[in-house]
Amino acid sequence: MCGIVGYVGNKNAQDFLVSGLKRLEYRGYDSAGILTLSDDGKATLIRAKGKIANLEEKLAKLKRSDTIGIGHTRWATHGEPSERNAHPHQAGPIYLVHNGIIENYKELKKATNGHEYQSETDSEVLAALINSFYKDGSHPLINAVVQALKLVKGTYGIAVVSVLNPDEIVVARSGSPLVIGVGHDETLLASDASALIGHTKQAIYLNDGEVARLTKNSVEIKTLNAEPVSAKVEEIETNLAAIQKGGYEHFLLKEIMEQPDSLVETLRGRVNAEEGTVRLGGPGLKEAELRKIKHLIIVGCGTAYHAGLLAGYYIEKFTPEITIETVIASEYRYRQAYIPENSVALIVSQSGETADTLACLREIKQQGVKTIGIVNAIGSTIAREVDGGTYVHVGPEISVASTKAFTSQVIAMVMFGLTIAQAKGVKRTILKPYVEEIAKLPEEIRKVLGEADQEVKTIADKYNGYDHAVYLGRDTAYPIAMEGALKLKEVSYIDANAYAFGELKHGPLALIDDRFFEVAFLPEGELYEKAVSNVQEVLARNGHVIAVTNVPRFDLHVENVVKITTTLTIFAPILMNLVSQLLAYYVTVAKGYNVDQPRNLAKSVTVE
Ligand code: M6R
Repeated sequence: MCGIVGYVGNKNAQDFLVSGLKRLEYRGYDSAGILTLSDDGKATLIRAKGKIANLEEKLAKLKRSDTIGIGHTRWATHGEPSERNAHPHQAGPIYLVHNGIIENYKELKKATNGHEYQSETDSEVLAALINSFYKDGSHPLINAVVQALKLVKGTYGIAVVSVLNPDEIVVARSGSPLVIGVGHDETLLASDASALIGHTKQAIYLNDGEVARLTKNSVEIKTLNAEPVSAKVEEIETNLAAIQKGGYEHFLLKEIMEQPDSLVETLRGRVNAEEGTVRLGGPGLKEAELRKIKHLIIVGCGTAYHAGLLAGYYIEKFTPEITIETVIASEYRYRQAYIPENSVALIVSQSGETADTLACLREIKQQGVKTIGIVNAIGSTIAREVDGGTYVHVGPEISVASTKAFTSQVIAMVMFGLTIAQAKGVKRTILKPYVEEIAKLPEEIRKVLGEADQEVKTIADKYNGYDHAVYLGRDTAYPIAMEGALKLKEVSYIDANAYAFGELKHGPLALIDDRFFEVAFLPEGELYEKAVSNVQEVLARNGHVIAVTNVPRFDLHVENVVKITTTLTIFAPILMNLVSQLLAYYVTVAKGYNVDQPRNLAKSVTVE
């Protein structure tokens, strides 16, 4: 949530700041702003409500050749989206950008009563507080920042500059990510490494509790307690192509279509279909430790939570004596949940920065439970704090709606389950079908995407006028229904909810009328006939049903059927999820909404 950029070097700072903000726009898009300083400390502040494009329009009239500056793209927390609430915020000679929430801002505001507030934000309070310690440059900026941060309760990633020292940027983090890019005669800053690609491959990931002073030739890091930190420089692996649309009109469609290849990356070197075995190095658990596992807690939010639910259904089918509890991070962090002995926690997050998931990780770790990350973003906070982990390696996911990450998260977790089952001595004949299907899945995904794409588009054209949708499934198709409903509602703003088929007659059946359409997932399997009976109940109430099935003999008279042709049985629901992704995409495009950046949302949810 919120994107931060910074630049100090010899090149044009405005150019980097704007291009960096465009790459971080997925983190927030309510307003944006940049501030640059000339060599003699003249400040140019440009801010605009809405998208970066609005900022660029203003910038055209205020072009500068300044070589230092900071920028921000906002996801509003305190104060409406508006120009005056846009960052950077000023207090005397200080300008600041902030990602996070200053929880005690009201209290701190009292300590800055000389400052005339221009915005409703908590962030301006921090700027004013830093200024009160800076005393017109009579103290080093970094010291003023440290003094202020020691009083702060909450989360922050900040970048601060002063017109009195136009050759340094002071940055600090606690709970909101910051990456420093080390270039030749230039130092760059961003909330995530994607903004640095094409400028430098050398990155330093700042840790919580660290503050740094950046100049064009130096990066000095210390803790808030003044202990020096020796910076670890890491290589950025992502390339430019991975963060561009590559010929697609939207990132969402690109990311849906990337799934055959992104899943191959998840599987690389981890699956032996002939032997029917998997091998995951990352979790770092010994055979004996795996054998002892009795309880698996899977923690995530939104799509990551749904991935955990689905993986849980699978793992309990083939792993004996294991209890799986998939939990929503924002709930779990405040529960007084008892974690029994021999538990392991899977911490699932695409971004690796989700505040609630991170809080759970820390809480669970404190209880002495082993934590394993199922993470996409390399070097992210969760990836660095877990005891071990498996990167899903799907590459950057830029569209706010998560698609390719879901597919790979499910499979990575199932592979972890298979690793436990192997260690527990489960028969090869039981596990091999899972491994074989996993190995085939990328090509089956490619086939289904090819076959279903235009068919789903045609269906989307018929249903985009509805205001409500109900998604239905049972067993492994139930989490698929939940994920499908989430996808539709978050991008198309159609009110969509998911129910387990068996729950219909306990309430939701009352909803069925002409305002609603129903998406029914009907995979082949022992519960198929039962699910069909449930669809009959919907049809008897004149429901508008779209059935998604891999059953060739399917002959119910529903309004639309999407038939999946596949040799897979176990993972057919994952193929059905592709239909949900395409449906959400095409409905939204038909409605003319911004499919990559839905209103009110942001990609990386770094506030509670
Ligand atoms: O980065 P994470 O996987 O931790 O994000 C979790 C959720 O915020 C995320 O999956 C969200 O629900 C997506 N926008 C859904 O498409």
